[in-house]
Amino acid sequence: MNAVDKSLTQEQESRIIAASISEASVKFGTLTALRDISLEIDSGDFYTILGPSGCGKSTLLRLVSDLVPPASGSVKIFGKSTEAARLAREFAFVFQDSTLLPWRNALKNVELPLEIGRKRNIKLPTGDRTPHELLELVGLKGREDALPHELSGGMRQRVAIARALVCQPKLLLMDEPFGALDEMTRDHLNLQLLDIWKETGTTILFVTHSIPEAIFLGQKVLMLKANPGRVKDVINIDLPMPRKIALREDPSFNNYCSQLRKLLEDC
Ligand SMILES: Nc1ncnc2c1ncn2[C@@H]1O[C@H](COP(=O)(O)OP(=O)(O)OP(=O)(O)O)[C@@H](O)[C@H]1O
Ligand SMILES: [Mg+2]
Repeated sequence: MNAVDKSLTQEQESRIIAASISEASVKFGTLTALRDISLEIDSGDFYTILGPSGCGKSTLLRLVSDLVPPASGSVKIFGKSTEAARLAREFAFVFQDSTLLPWRNALKNVELPLEIGRKRNIKLPTGDRTPHELLELVGLKGREDALPHELSGGMRQRVAIARALVCQPKLLLMDEPFGALDEMTRDHLNLQLLDIWKETGTTILFVTHSIPEAIFLGQKVLMLKANPGRVKDVINIDLPMPRKIALREDPSFNNYCSQLRKLLEDC
């Protein structure tokens, strides 16, 4: 074996696959929502997911998170079945609406998954950060006692992100988490999410309707097409990290926007 082959083999051996989806299809009655999805997502990657409404983006996240079963094919999360990964809290979900419990303050919402684990006697992965520290990480130090209705929409989403991080998930699934926010807040949270990603090393699958957001956040954009939902393309976003807001003015950023817009029109 020559030196190049050897180093390639070593690279393959050290490669950790966060999600391995193999020819997976999802059906709802007679409707095929996803057909023959095959994807390998490396641990630590940041994928954004784009595609026309109804093409199966949310269904793909639900498939990965054991909320819907594949009709055929298979899904493995860090080498485990999706059920085993769910029970081991290998992944966490953040939805468009923050789904906080309105009667619990910010800190108590972040603590909720730990409390549930304790009540059910489940041994949870103990994260490096306490709920207090997670609220600090998402920029909410000092707002621990605030109830959800006392926080802005962006702040509530940040609480939801802190809560998702509390069991130190290796995979974070985000379904349009900033879709309902104004542009300035969204920009701010985009930067914060990139910082969190860098600090925690978690793998992220992030669904969005916004082409600029998909490019700004993603190392790779997974483009789905509709009827039935299939993989159209995976586009590498070769823009330097850490990303700054000014990058959006860069011609290379705009080139990606045009490329993805054309692909999306074609879906
Ligand atoms: N629980 C369900 N029962 C029946 N059909 C469903 C169910 N969930 C999703 N579907 C259908 O599966 C298809 C994909 O839906 P999905 O919600 O994954 O799309 P999406 O890409 O997330 O759309 P959007 O961008 O509007 O959020 C749609 O045709 C939808 O009607
Ligand atoms: Mg959706």
